[in-house]
Amino acid sequence: MSGLYTIQTGEPSQRQEVLRLFPRMAKLGAPLRERAITAWVSAWLSSTHSTLEEMPYSLQAVDYRLLDHTNEVADVGLFLGDYARGRWGSELEADTLMATLILHDIDKALLYTRQDGAVVADPARACLPHGVLGAMLLKEAGLPDDIVTLVGTHTTTSPIKTAGPEAWILHYADLFACDHAFGQAEGTLPFFQRTNN
Ligand SMILES: [Fe+2]
Ligand SMILES: [Fe+2]
Repeated sequence: MSGLYTIQTGEPSQRQEVLRLFPRMAKLGAPLRERAITAWVSAWLSSTHSTLEEMPYSLQAVDYRLLDHTNEVADVGLFLGDYARGRWGSELEADTLMATLILHDIDKALLYTRQDGAVVADPARACLPHGVLGAMLLKEAGLPDDIVTLVGTHTTTSPIKTAGPEAWILHYADLFACDHAFGQAEGTLPFFQRTNN
């Protein structure tokens, strides 16, 4: 058995909890939605956190909830996608975009833990970069290759940048929501104010 994560479908109540906390997931087509729920249930039950609400977003914004960041990226991505489609005729695959927005930071459930009340990198999983661990989990949970690829390459530090409109929307929705979270955190400069990134 892997110490990184275990794919599991969970109890019906746990699947319902994922749907309740990520309400935009309900819009996805059935097979994709069920696989996305399994992915989040797997990340949750494999993590050191007892609830989805207590998962921290970032070591640079430890009081910000991963749940809130994820839903904010989904909200902003939906707005941006609608605008790009309406204004520029961008051809976005709606379910691929929404699933990617909701799943892009799934491995943050596993990468961080709490030690003596402080949020720290989980030593069992910190050997893999953010994005890569999520892509592995999603592939194993049966998500399609395009979503796996988008999640695996979405970080600002990824050496490979996936092309296409879904990657573009995810990038800006993510950074927009991220900078809100970073702006709330003491001592963390939002990306848009940095001069050397
Ligand atoms: Fe991320
Ligand atoms: Fe993110």
